[in-house]
Amino acid sequence: TRVAVVGGGTSGEHEVSLASAASIRGALDESRYDVVALTIGRDGSWYDRGGRPIGLTGAVHVLRTCDVVLPALHGPGGEDGTLAALCDLAGLPCVGSGVMAGALAMDKWAAKLVAEALGIRTAPGRLVVPATASTLRLTGPVVVKPVAAGSSLGVSLVQHQRDLAPALAAAFAHDARALVEDVVAGREIDVAVLARPDGSRMVSPALEIHSSGLFDHATKYDGTARFEVPAPLGDLDLQRLERDAVAVVDALGCAGVARVDFFLTDRGWVLNEVNTMPGFTETSQVPRMFAAAGLPYPELLDLLLGDALV
Ligand code: DAL
Ligand code: MG
Repeated sequence: TRVAVVGGGTSGEHEVSLASAASIRGALDESRYDVVALTIGRDGSWYDRGGRPIGLTGAVHVLRTCDVVLPALHGPGGEDGTLAALCDLAGLPCVGSGVMAGALAMDKWAAKLVAEALGIRTAPGRLVVPATASTLRLTGPVVVKPVAAGSSLGVSLVQHQRDLAPALAAAFAHDARALVEDVVAGREIDVAVLARPDGSRMVSPALEIHSSGLFDHATKYDGTARFEVPAPLGDLDLQRLERDAVAVVDALGCAGVARVDFFLTDRGWVLNEVNTMPGFTETSQVPRMFAAAGLPYPELLDLLLGDALV
């Protein structure tokens, strides 16, 4: 099977994506897969394995020589459904969520509305655009984030009104819309859902993130955060977590693997976000969650590729 692994991309998560792509390429069994590496530069240019620029036309030509595309892209310009759209138009099987699910999940405002409609709590929040930014008055601490971004890029914790404008500017550097949410106090716990083409759903063990202070961009990648799998949870909390995660993944229409991030508060679960192409190095959360359930990283990749080829 010839697999195109696409990494890089134009989002702020370019480097994170290169790491995911390199890890995936290294883990694919050489006796079963012929791996073709493609990279999207920060400026959107496509490069072949040797780093030669090949243009979009060249890239589509290479993709068309492959049986399946595995997009290791995080953030806008990939995870948001754009790569799935390219594959759709080119008639190529693609691992993971399709256009609509990728776009909906990447839009944290839309995903919040979907979750709330399902009765799944999210942090109380409001949508802010540059034209309405100056009218916002804080009554408590908030988290300011771009509607569409990942890896906590452009995210700030704001305690005082005077810090709001710079925080919004930081968010608007990533997206034309920002989300201003009340701070949620709770344990940070994630779970992954494999949504398979036969309609079955496999839920990973839950993972708890232990980090001193905010699990921000630096903490996500400097190795100081500790993951605990399975997260210690009571039966009722675990059942509810699994039910809510599957419900939101189904409502968004996700395929392949999605990581659903929650806070466990004194009043129960609060959904933070859904990632349709979560960090995918061998030591990233999702591979660790499934490894803890007895599904090693190469076999998780086999499942994802097999599902895309169904
Ligand atoms: N957006 C990063 C890659 C994650 O969710 O893991
Ligand atoms: Mg994310």
